[in-house]
Amino acid sequence: MSQKIEVALIFGGRSAEHEISLVSAAAIHKNLDKTKFGVRSIYITRQGLWKAVEGPSNDIGMLEAGRAFSFLPWAGRDEGPELDADIYFPVLHGPYGEDGTIQGLLEMAGVPYVGAGVLGSALGMDKSAAKSILRDHGLPVVPCLVIREEDFRADAGRLLGRIRRSLPLPLFVKPANLGSSVGITKVGDSKDVPAALATAFRYDTTALVEKGIRGRELELSVLGNETPEASLPGEVIPFREFYDYNDKYVDGKTTFVIPVELAPRTLARIRGLGIAAFKALSCSGLARVDFFLEKGTNRLYINEINTIPGFTEISMYPKLWAASGLPFPRLLERLIELGFARHRNRKACLERDR
Ligand SMILES: Nc1ncnc2c1ncn2[C@@H]1O[C@H](COP(=O)(O)OP(=O)(O)O)[C@@H](O)[C@H]1O
Ligand SMILES: [Mg+2]
Repeated sequence: MSQKIEVALIFGGRSAEHEISLVSAAAIHKNLDKTKFGVRSIYITRQGLWKAVEGPSNDIGMLEAGRAFSFLPWAGRDEGPELDADIYFPVLHGPYGEDGTIQGLLEMAGVPYVGAGVLGSALGMDKSAAKSILRDHGLPVVPCLVIREEDFRADAGRLLGRIRRSLPLPLFVKPANLGSSVGITKVGDSKDVPAALATAFRYDTTALVEKGIRGRELELSVLGNETPEASLPGEVIPFREFYDYNDKYVDGKTTFVIPVELAPRTLARIRGLGIAAFKALSCSGLARVDFFLEKGTNRLYINEINTIPGFTEISMYPKLWAASGLPFPRLLERLIELGFARHRNRKACLERDR
């Protein structure tokens, strides 16, 4: 009998998306084919402590009781079974997880892991950097101005004038780094821009002021390394004014259409754009690419890319793959294969260099 592959799930984490990470990790744990994979569970507390635990759970007390261990440096050190795995699977959403930090740690440790590397993760997390790169590749993004808190403090009048002259209302004001719609305000009146910026600056020192797009919100799952593939698209129909935090995690009244039927031309275009965005942003493994389809013009805009998208049983990423013929357990196998393949390629490149 062949040996099982040991997968270490890393979940929890220091971001506002701690809870959703637990639910994602539980779904992944449940759907990993136990005839092929052994599972280790590493819980990162909100404070950033690493704990070996039985498995993902919503019982925070139980998770907190896990044995704390240090994780650096780990190559060549006998750290004990909880840290020793064949491949690592960060299931951490938002800062300190989806942003390249843990990917850097895993690179330093020289171990295979699932998903995007340092650059792809960092770009995916920073909406301003991602937009610049996408624009540079000729890909359509929503018109926006990037405002630094320091600059705004120094000369608010000039920047407010620029916003007024260059972007029509309504506007969306958001922190450059974050997810879950935290810190995002829809602004219908110019006089409300300073308050919206103040809200965004509570979460990041850089904010984006975007033209509000009227239309539909479409999402696509991308999977692969050098030759990524796109799933069928899905649609999110927010219950509220926009897909805000309450809509995402509190009310549960959002409608998801999985998959969504689109005109053949739009379908081909959205899949092409999703794959192009994935490549432009140096992603690997997986990403969910989110779009706006503008009413009237039928133009597609890439809104953002998520390199560790929600991965619960009802999340868009796995559901879109299931609708495209790849069920959850097979999707996980594919992601693990891709993680190993990326590791092998990187190692080969580095060795060639020596
Ligand atoms: N430019 C925009 N035009 C229209 N709606 C927007 C715009 N930007 C954001 N939104 C709304 O706000 C939601 C959250 O914004 P998003 O940029 O996706 O941030 P997050 O990373 O928090 O998901 C979107 O799903 C959408 O409903
Ligand atoms: Mg979003």
